[in-house]
Amino acid sequence: MNIIVTGGAGFIGGNFMHYMVNKYPNDNIICIDSLTYAGNMETLEPIKDKKNYKFYKVDITDRKSIYEIFEKEKPDYCINFAAESHVDRSLENPEIFLKTNILGTQVLMDACRKYGIKRYHQVSTDEVYGDLPLERPDLQFDETYPIKTSSPYSASKASADLLVMAYHRTFKLPCTISRCSNNYGPYHFPEKLIPLMISRALNNEKLPVYGEGKNVRDWLYVEDHCRAIDMIVRDGKDGEVYNIGGHAEKANIDIVKIILKKLDKPESLIEFVKDRPGHDLRYAMNPAKIEKELGWKPSVTFEQGIDKTIDWYLNNKPWWEHIISGEYQNYFDKMYGYRMDKK
Ligand code: NAD
Ligand code: TYD
Repeated sequence: MNIIVTGGAGFIGGNFMHYMVNKYPNDNIICIDSLTYAGNMETLEPIKDKKNYKFYKVDITDRKSIYEIFEKEKPDYCINFAAESHVDRSLENPEIFLKTNILGTQVLMDACRKYGIKRYHQVSTDEVYGDLPLERPDLQFDETYPIKTSSPYSASKASADLLVMAYHRTFKLPCTISRCSNNYGPYHFPEKLIPLMISRALNNEKLPVYGEGKNVRDWLYVEDHCRAIDMIVRDGKDGEVYNIGGHAEKANIDIVKIILKKLDKPESLIEFVKDRPGHDLRYAMNPAKIEKELGWKPSVTFEQGIDKTIDWYLNNKPWWEHIISGEYQNYFDKMYGYRMDKK
């Protein structure tokens, strides 16, 4: 089997590359990634000498190059992780989100139509459902919940989902979509909540918590997400959407306190800063469909997962120190300078 994985030098795609290359030595796992700021070849270092691994540095919006790869590799499956993924960046520069997340998806699906495919899989997010009120813990998103987005990021992901469904209905493109809650684990870029807080706490730097830290996310250990996608691609029903979630809802402030406690750092490092505009209050996934139909469930609890994640950041300092020592510092000053000035 030939399997194209786009965005495989990023956080989840990178973990998925490791998972697939090791689990399926007889399949060819072909990564396509344009190596934006979020793509990192060091993430793929541990698998780079495996015989079933291949890498192309190509942008998914580059139609000509994508067609050439499809013609050469004749993929059975195409799994699309490639995206601009950070909400805060989408508030600064929405355009690249629309280009990569929507037009890139279109190019990949056109390639699938042109060269034929067993299954195109779109990696989507719970953020397409918008948010839920904090005071209604009884409410959750299931797959029929209306699409109701808040940020340019989530709007671009929802647009891509709609396009996938349109290609399925109109062109009979064989496809599935998964919508997952917040992931955490190894190789997570330190602009997102958990790796940002771990790396800054280890350096005794202030931890910027937006608003009052009451916003709630549902967290899933990244390897459980990888396993779910593998199951959906192989056994999921054509044209279906599957929610994936960790049954682990946590307020941001509680996560930050857990991290500080585990690292034996003082809570005085916490700094409440100006809130994210349009900040989604709560995400809560109902993954009953994938649990019932495919027998998937999370194998790692939040308590186990956060321990594994913190251990990974402690044992892999060069990976994240390379990131935060470079251009990233300018990013931090730009994104947080104003937040910390104007609480
Ligand atoms: P990430 O930002 O860590 O990685 C994205 C990868 O895509 C990077 O390697 C980047 O170089 C690559 N990329 C970006 N634009 C590209 C382009 N035009 N052409 C080729 N490659 C390109 O993102 P992530 O957190 O690993 O998320 C992966 C996918 O999962 C995204 O589609 C995201 O929407 C979805 N998702 C993420 C989460 C989460 O918690 N991180 C949760 C649910 C769904
Ligand atoms: P993030 O990791 O950016 O994921 P998403 O916005 O896709 O859920 O943020 C998770 C939560 O943490 C979100 O409610 C915003 C909050 N947050 C902070 O409080 N401080 C930070 O520095 C960051 C990056 C996020």
